[in-house]
Parts: sequence; C-alpha cells; structure tokens
Amino acid sequence: MPGFEHIDKKELEEVLDVFNSGGILFRHGFDNLRNGCYKVDEFEKAFAAKIGTKYALAVTSGTAALRVALAALGIGKGDEVITQCFTFVATVESIVESGATPVCTEIDKTLNMDPKDLESKITSKTKAVIAVHMLGTPARLKEIKKICEKYNLFLIEDTAWGCGGNLENINLGNWGDIGTFSFDFAKTITTGEGGMITFKDEKIYKKAAAWHDHGHENNPKYPRWEDTRSSSGFNFRMMELQGAIGLAQLKKLDFIINLQRDIKQKLINKLANINEIELRNSPNDSYETADSLIFFVESKKEALKCRENLLQNNFSTKILPEAYSWHFAGTWEHILELNKAHKNNLKNQFHVSKSILSRAVSLPISSNLNNEKIDIIGDIIFSTLRK
Ligand SMILES: Cc1ncc(COP(=O)(O)O)c(C=O)c1O
Repeated sequence: MPGFEHIDKKELEEVLDVFNSGGILFRHGFDNLRNGCYKVDEFEKAFAAKIGTKYALAVTSGTAALRVALAALGIGKGDEVITQCFTFVATVESIVESGATPVCTEIDKTLNMDPKDLESKITSKTKAVIAVHMLGTPARLKEIKKICEKYNLFLIEDTAWGCGGNLENINLGNWGDIGTFSFDFAKTITTGEGGMITFKDEKIYKKAAAWHDHGHENNPKYPRWEDTRSSSGFNFRMMELQGAIGLAQLKKLDFIINLQRDIKQKLINKLANINEIELRNSPNDSYETADSLIFFVESKKEALKCRENLLQNNFSTKILPEAYSWHFAGTWEHILELNKAHKNNLKNQFHVSKSILSRAVSLPISSNLNNEKIDIIGDIIFSTLRK
C-alpha cells in the first residue's frame, strides 16, 4: 500500500508553502528570496530523526541513493560488492555503475539474503554487502552484521521497501553503515521520484553530500560559485517540491504502516485454514512494513494459477509471480558484469532461490482492502488450491 494512496491537501499545503515563500525550487542558496523556506533540508532533518541516524541526505531516487552510498564509501573498480539474488535490478545496476563487480547470494525463506551463502561468497576483493529488506520484511541483519564485522566489510541496507520497519527495535536503515531509501511512486511513502541515504559517520556523510552535488562542499565561508571541492562527483540533488511532499508523507508514515499491518493480519487470519500454503518467514523480533503478504504454494503452476484467478476477479499480485524477471538476478544475463562474476553462467545459479521464488505468491496490501475484499481474496486462494 504505497504512499500515493494517501496524497491529500497536506502535500498540497507543503508545496504551496514553497511557492508562497518565493518559489525557490533549488535546495541551495537564494537566501534572500526564499523567506527561510528550505524543504529538502527540513525533510532530511526530520527523516534522520525518524530513523534515529545522525545524518540523512536526500537524493533523486533509490537507485541514486545506492550509487551515492557506494561512492561515499570509496568503492569502485577492482572491488566486489555482494547483494542478494532477489532484489530489484537497481541494486545490481548501482554496483555496476560504481565500477565494482556485483556478486549475488542465495535467499532463504525470508526472501532475503542467506547469511551462510554470504560468508561463502566473500573474497579478498569484497568491500561491502548490500542487504535488501525485500517487500518490507527485515533481512537477517544480526547475522549479516556479524559477518561484515568479522571480515571488515561495509554494510549498506537497501531499505527501498523497509522504510518504517524495524528489527529488534532498531529501525531499518540504522543497522548498517548506510541505509538507502526509495520514494518512488510504488513505495510506502512517496515523492513521485526520490530517495534518502542515512549515515552514522560524519566523514562518510560529508563525502556523499559533496559527491551527489558535483563535489560541492557547500563551504559556508564561500558563495556557492566559489565553493571548495576535494573530489569530482555527479548531480543527484533532490528539488524543493519533492522535499515538500516528502515532509507531508513522512508525517503519515506511522499511520500507513499501522494500517498496512492491520490489513495484513486480517488477510493472514483469512488464509489461516488453507493448509496448502506456507507463509514467508521473518527474523525474530521483526516489525515489518507489511507492504505485501507472501506465501509459498506447491509449485510454479499453482502460483501462476493463483495470479490468474485473482486477475479474473480484478485483484492482482505484486512482483511474484508476474515481475519475477525484473527481481531475480538469475535472469539478468544482460548485465554482463554480473554474468561474468557468476562463471558466465548466470541462469544456472541460485537453484535454492529459484525453487523458493517460483512457488511464491505476493498479495499487495492496499488501504482499500476492506473486510469484504479480504474475504473474496481468501476464497479465491482457497478454491484455487483445493485438491
Ligand atoms: C530493492 C530496491 N532497491 C532500489 C530500488 C530503486 O528505487 P528507485 O525506483 O527510487 O530508483 C528499488 C525500486 O523499486 C527497489 O525495489
């Protein structure tokens, strides 16, 4: 249930505030024209406070967040970065764009990184691990963090789907060295396009802030056109209108998560008597964002049948099974660097994950899922799987 279902006059008021304060859409400068209105800056501070990190940096997308994170950690050519084989293609693309080599692990029944497989894939070139909280369920961060500490690796959490979730009462995005977030239109809170990066370390934050802004250090001693720089960079700056919308959406995050969790629980209750399904696992003490409800059926054929029968009744599934190929690394032979890192034989890797994913059905949690719709969905799944 993405934030777009909750866009109302609050977002409009924040956007109007930008225009009523002088209409400055750039996050930096124009100080005498903007009447103290700095929405991106305000959004970053509010976001850092919400996640409990010291620093947050707004960027143009979740993909950009990953790319900037890798740059800030100094990762590039000759390095290896390990992520999981079930993620959106963006996670691997960001590694390729950094110049590093992407390596993927198997997942387990949490549908996130299998820590045992992670350890087996570490080499002397490995510099960082990107653990993904796919579709709102926390990764096994306790085990993954321990492995990263043992091998002296950076831990990045791809929190694109995990915004508002936590594990053992520590917010997702605040376990690793860096957390990256997406505010695209399908996410729990949205700015249309947009992303955020959270940091613990001031030095890494400052590197990221400069790198995402052509190397600008925003040195207060100089005007921007004479600004100091220590490295080159790129442009992944968020604009003020996105910052304004993000501020309004962030205030709704707890409400959205609570609603999602409530609806998801009702759906779980409805499916409780269907013996043919097994629910996705989650680590102990997980507080999920409840973005979707995922269960495993007996075979790929049954999973496809569930989707087909739901579609016939105007209900859909979310990512599994229909968008499998955009989210499973075993199908990404077009990413040559990834294929090469996996013996040029990508499609014959990740047997465990393939078998888990091909039997998975993911139901989107939407705020309009009332009791009547939940009953209908439950009945469709029941009649589809009944022998
Ligand atoms: C796991 C994951 N990482 C990164 C991204 C990229 O986010 P964005 O669409 O904001 O670039 C997505 C987008 O769906 C995602 O699912």
